[in-house]
Amino acid sequence: MSLARFWVCRLVLALFCCPVLGYKLRSNLSQSDFKPAREELGVVWQHCAVEGSECPCSGLVRFGEGDRWVAAEHAEGKLMCNVSTFQEDPAFNRRKECWCAVGQSGQTARASAGSAAIVTLSRHPPDLNTWIRYHLHYAGVEHIFIKSEDSPETAELIRQLPTEDQAKVTLWESAASLLGVSSSDSRPQDDYTTLQARQTAVMARAKQACEEMHIDWLIHIDDDELLYTPQHRKIGDLLAAVPTAFLQAYLPNVEAVYKSAEVQSCFMQTDKVNVNRYKFQSYANGKSAVRVGAKEVRPAGPHLWRDGLNQDLPSVHMDQEPFGPPIIVVHYESCPFSRWQDKFWELGNTSPEKVSQIPFPFYRTSISKMQICRSNTESGKDARELEMLGCDQASLMQFWSQWKTEANPSLTLEDLMPIHIPWEKIAL
Ligand SMILES: *[C@@H]1O[C@H](CO)[C@@H](O)[C@H](O)[C@H]1NC(C)=O
Ligand SMILES: *[C@@H]1O[C@H](CO)[C@@H](O)[C@H](O)[C@H]1NC(C)=O
Repeated sequence: MSLARFWVCRLVLALFCCPVLGYKLRSNLSQSDFKPAREELGVVWQHCAVEGSECPCSGLVRFGEGDRWVAAEHAEGKLMCNVSTFQEDPAFNRRKECWCAVGQSGQTARASAGSAAIVTLSRHPPDLNTWIRYHLHYAGVEHIFIKSEDSPETAELIRQLPTEDQAKVTLWESAASLLGVSSSDSRPQDDYTTLQARQTAVMARAKQACEEMHIDWLIHIDDDELLYTPQHRKIGDLLAAVPTAFLQAYLPNVEAVYKSAEVQSCFMQTDKVNVNRYKFQSYANGKSAVRVGAKEVRPAGPHLWRDGLNQDLPSVHMDQEPFGPPIIVVHYESCPFSRWQDKFWELGNTSPEKVSQIPFPFYRTSISKMQICRSNTESGKDARELEMLGCDQASLMQFWSQWKTEANPSLTLEDLMPIHIPWEKIAL
């Protein structure tokens, strides 16, 4: 069901409750002066300008069209609604507009601030330090649950966090990594079925823990994903504005598009995402937030929750919100380049039957590429021969760039949306 429909009557109420809009409506009902307003999870936005004209607004302004937006604070009282002001184009080749945040709806003003936790099953995480700090210090996540597999370095990393951060991270280690031995022999990496079972087990365990800690919402994401809010609000506050009738919120995912194969710090060096799900290189069905107070619900795979009878939960779809999704999962897949190289080298011995079952062309192509390179390297081909086969470092980086950067020939400017994370303000 669409939350937009649910909000229609509430929006009418908001128009009269909110002093600014109420005054406008009472004082001048002429069509030309009427500025449309929309509510997005507790905040009322008012249309202030079309692209190329002046928007009277102090505070938070958003610029964009449809489901693509950037947002910025403006103190001056008015601004020119154009790409120069926002310094990025959220919707290339489309006529954009500006909306000004004019207040909170009555419902949100009454509601207490919400809390949200995330849970992940982590194995050789690419940059767990940045991932933790981003979610605690910027995204407004209250607590993090990490089940660590085969990665003793994770415990050490958490021990080195500031004390107040450590208190917000719960680490569960598998028995094998507690003993300091690798458990990878008993757990084939390409076994997606057992991976899902281990993910759902840790999701259920975290939900139980959230109940005890009185946390309102729980989201399962991977350690190469960030929860992003285009309007820079806190995840807990956004979810607190979801009406209590809904037990789950679907969050769509998008894919990071990297600057080049040289990128090392994938979270911090990326400022563009591909929002065209038909061109994704990995899954496209998003993740979901579950209301911790919901009884008898359980994970149905890593992407969603169902009730005790395996039926759908009453859910809101964030991508049907009036400005598109207010919370997005950004997937930083196969990054940095060296991580891709290691992963697919390992997967190079996957059987042809298994490869043909993988639904993603990028994965299949990467595996075949690595099978060629691995067998030729192991059979002792020299550097020149490997270069001829496209297996030298430069050729492999070129291969990766053709998928993971803007050099990807299937991506157009229309597929890309800028994301803006103020890393300089996040204590790392
Ligand atoms: C109502 O709006 C019209 C058109 O913008 C304007 O000409 C008129 O002066 C306004 N009336 C009042 C009472 O503000
Ligand atoms: C935006 O508006 C300013 C002020 O009018 C102008 O100088 C600038 O060239 C405009 N930028 C674009 C991209 O139209």
